[in-house]
Amino acid sequence: MHPYILSLLGLLFYTLGVNTAAVQSVSRETCQSTGTHCPPGTIIVSATSKKASHTTVQSAIDSLPDDSTPQTILILAGTYTEQVNITRSGPITLLGQTTSPKDATRNQVRITWAGGNKDSTGTIDNVWYSVLVVAPTLEASLTGSGTTGYPVPEDTPFGNKNFRVYNIDFDNTWAEYSNGPAHALSFSRANGGFYYCGFYSYQDTIYIGKLGNAYFYESILAGQTDFLYGFGTAWIQSSAVQLRGCGGGITAWKGTNTTTPNKYGVYIVDSSVRAANSSIAPDIKGLCALGRPWNSQHRSIFARSYEDGSIDPQGYIDWVVSGVSRFEEGVTLMAEYRDYGPGFNKTARLEGGVTSVLGWEGYEPYSTPQKVFVDTEWVDWGVVKGN
Ligand SMILES: *[C@@H]1O[C@H](CO)[C@@H](O)[C@H](O)[C@H]1NC(C)=O
Ligand SMILES: *[C@@H]1O[C@H](CO)[C@@H](O)[C@H](O)[C@H]1NC(C)=O
Ligand SMILES: *[C@@H]1O[C@H](CO)[C@@H](O)[C@H](O)[C@H]1NC(C)=O
Ligand SMILES: *[C@@H]1O[C@H](CO)[C@@H](O)[C@H](O)[C@H]1NC(C)=O
Repeated sequence: MHPYILSLLGLLFYTLGVNTAAVQSVSRETCQSTGTHCPPGTIIVSATSKKASHTTVQSAIDSLPDDSTPQTILILAGTYTEQVNITRSGPITLLGQTTSPKDATRNQVRITWAGGNKDSTGTIDNVWYSVLVVAPTLEASLTGSGTTGYPVPEDTPFGNKNFRVYNIDFDNTWAEYSNGPAHALSFSRANGGFYYCGFYSYQDTIYIGKLGNAYFYESILAGQTDFLYGFGTAWIQSSAVQLRGCGGGITAWKGTNTTTPNKYGVYIVDSSVRAANSSIAPDIKGLCALGRPWNSQHRSIFARSYEDGSIDPQGYIDWVVSGVSRFEEGVTLMAEYRDYGPGFNKTARLEGGVTSVLGWEGYEPYSTPQKVFVDTEWVDWGVVKGN
């Protein structure tokens, strides 16, 4: 069918109220840029506009019914200094107001908080410092410590089954260098898609916890140390990984038996990995490791991605604690598939001894979101395929 007819049909179904589960992209973008054609019942947040019924994102979240109805919140342009915590299991869509809905560098909505975990005793969890937390319970969101993390009780329910965010920046402004874990996002026991979003911090920017399934599209993920970490599954598509310094690795993943039989890990695909700007680039040349194993079951793959000269020629590095190497041959998967650019040196990768340079056979089991997630109905394929 002709795409124009398809979108007319979409509009018709939308008007008839048939399609309430997913916001059609044609009306979503209009809603984001003009505030009109939003799904019925859309809640508006703004600290200043009279059109808004809530002045903070959290108060809009708290006003949602505790049921399975899909709900949409439109956040008007501005900076919101608050932590947001979402436990609701029914579908939620957060829309950031923007005049450039396909460009994360021009987002006009920023949610910001300054918090970092300086506790050295292990009694205060990283989750308390996150800008956004999505998890059904506090226990589900705890990182915990040690190589298997917090033992989340098995009877913990699943949280949000369909969480979607468009054009919002999450910025943890705790420090301008690695100064303890400072999450922009903590996402556990939930399914969520982030489109044209930004995640900014220095250390541990993005945490995908146990049973967390997160899909990122055309987004910006910025950090310095271990800034993509967790136990769950993250697919990062067509996005920009920005290096604001080097420390640890870009990815630090753990595996445990509390994950489902999906292929937990972090997959960075058709993306770019570059110094955050040209002033930092000379300082970090050849110094940033792609990742390191938080436990031996670490799994991460950078695939078909561009790497600038910031990347350590050996790619990934080992993580040695008290003389014990966490890298385990045949268990740890720290891999690349068809990466390119000045940061990719196959000879040095092989010499380093911990990076797997995969061919198609090695990459194939992880080569699509459908292969790594249990299901992908919560991904907005309309946005991904419409581009
Ligand atoms: C999030 O909200 C839930 C429910 O109110 C609460 O139990 C939990 O402690 C909160 N988590 C954080 C990190 O604030
Ligand atoms: C470049 O990035 C670094 C690291 O985030 C930051 O400290 C610095 O202010 C940035 N410089 C410019 C000119 O934006
Ligand atoms: C996970 O479970 C398998 C099979 O029961 C077992 O062999 C393995 O040792 C367990 N791994 C961890 C880290 O608990
Ligand atoms: C790649 O790495 C090898 C081994 O460390 C080194 O000899 C070679 O000069 C590197 N190539 C480039 C283009 O930097």
